[in-house]
Amino acid sequence: MKVLITAGPTHEAIDPVRFIANKSSGKMGYSLAHAFVSLGHEVVLISGPVHIPLPDKRIQVVSVMSAREMYLAAMDHLGYDIAVMAAAVADYRPKLVWDSKMKKPLYGGETMYLELEKTEDILASLGERKHASQVIIGFALESDRGMESARQKLVRKNADAIVLNSLLDQGAGFGHDTNVVSILLANGTTEKLPLMAKTEIANILANKACDLWQQKQAG
Ligand code: CTP
Repeated sequence: MKVLITAGPTHEAIDPVRFIANKSSGKMGYSLAHAFVSLGHEVVLISGPVHIPLPDKRIQVVSVMSAREMYLAAMDHLGYDIAVMAAAVADYRPKLVWDSKMKKPLYGGETMYLELEKTEDILASLGERKHASQVIIGFALESDRGMESARQKLVRKNADAIVLNSLLDQGAGFGHDTNVVSILLANGTTEKLPLMAKTEIANILANKACDLWQQKQAG
């Protein structure tokens, strides 16, 4: 099967030396890429800037910086069977990117204002273009009312499953090697996994994605 994965953060340029980013390590997405190639699938990994050694040679890595670049790379790979959107894509980017380093006298006094615009929602864009045979899995990192918000995301972005991780769980979320996730499926069921290594979660998710794909082909 052809598998498309997004991983890591995105960097949204302010000027040539500054950017807006987040704390995503990319570990979950890279673990997923390894899990899928180990099962014998063809993997394209669209990766934001991360500090992870280059993965298994069987994984085709497309390196990007910004949400816009990640979106365009995803649009170039729409022929997937399974897509897993594990990237922590910036929701907003500076509306205006300066050509040269911003100097204090140019942007005013004690307070500086940055005007931001929304980035492309990659998961929702894939969801809009999804064929009946394709499976799309998204992630959600929530701090409160997680289940409710994740279920809304699943419907809004036309995903087949959302992997919810809460910022309230110990050992979960950005930077850790472990995570606590719940898998919400479009059929209304939810499966909560205990604290596990991200590599183990990746194996479970890869198998779950393949099951979902098989169920779809069966109609
Ligand atoms: N996502 C994406 N493109 C974006 C933002 C998010 O593809 N511009 C994907 C993420 O990779 C993840 C899922 O959407 O799989 C949920 O991301 P999240 O940031 O939690 O969702 P948002 O829609 O941005 O909702 P919120 O208002 O909670 O930030």
